Amino acid sequence: MRLDKYLSERTAFSRSQIKNLISAKKVKVNGVTASKADMNITGSETVSISGEVVRQDKKLTLLMNKPKDYISATEDKTEKTVIDLLPPEYKGQGLSPVGRLDKDTTGFLLLTNDGSLLHDLTSPKKHVPKYYIASLAEPFTDKAQELIIKGIILKDGSQCKPAKAAAISNDGKEVLISICEGKYHQVKRMFAATGNRVENLKRIAMGNMILPPDLQPGEVLVLLDKDLTEVLNINDIFSALITNFMKSSS
Ligand code: URA
Repeated sequence: MRLDKYLSERTAFSRSQIKNLISAKKVKVNGVTASKADMNITGSETVSISGEVVRQDKKLTLLMNKPKDYISATEDKTEKTVIDLLPPEYKGQGLSPVGRLDKDTTGFLLLTNDGSLLHDLTSPKKHVPKYYIASLAEPFTDKAQELIIKGIILKDGSQCKPAKAAAISNDGKEVLISICEGKYHQVKRMFAATGNRVENLKRIAMGNMILPPDLQPGEVLVLLDKDLTEVLNINDIFSALITNFMKSSS
């Protein structure tokens, strides 16, 4: 495989940045400065950029159905982390959670060693929608819905972007909500600002990718390039999800 392709599959650098790094003599193969982007790489060499060794394994992204009681971190002194749940073959591959779900939040969580994907999905400039089902202490009111749709102001005075939310259960306590930003405890704080309280929270989709219903809590699925295209697709699927809930409850 060409050196530039090898590096673009394993780092967050673009092909043109890699060419520049090679021209600037920053790339070494087995300790020898590489001079050509099309140099052949078998995969067993030690390749470094500016002295830092590039992992030999390829980019890997997993989708986990996160259970409760695990924190979205790579390590912790006292708490169990989502990395602890990984089958042995995925440990030691440099996977990190993409963003955070609270310890008591369940559902759709990506884990990746792909720096550029991590950046694309967590950058405030990208607006990948995230869809949650919140179980509330009190029924969701029309007034609360109006505030969330307009862009609710949290109790600390911070302004949220306009979001979507609609009750999906007869008692009005199950609500589908989508947000395109990622403030700390955002969904819980949005409902708290309406005078309500989230009792359970599950993320069910991100972009256009829905958590597969047969993925059990704690299980992971390897995502393919076509799945990642769906995750990064910002087309709104709120109405489609509502229609699905209505169909399944009728
Ligand atoms: N909003 C929250 O309040 N908690 C989460 O885990 C995710 C979004």
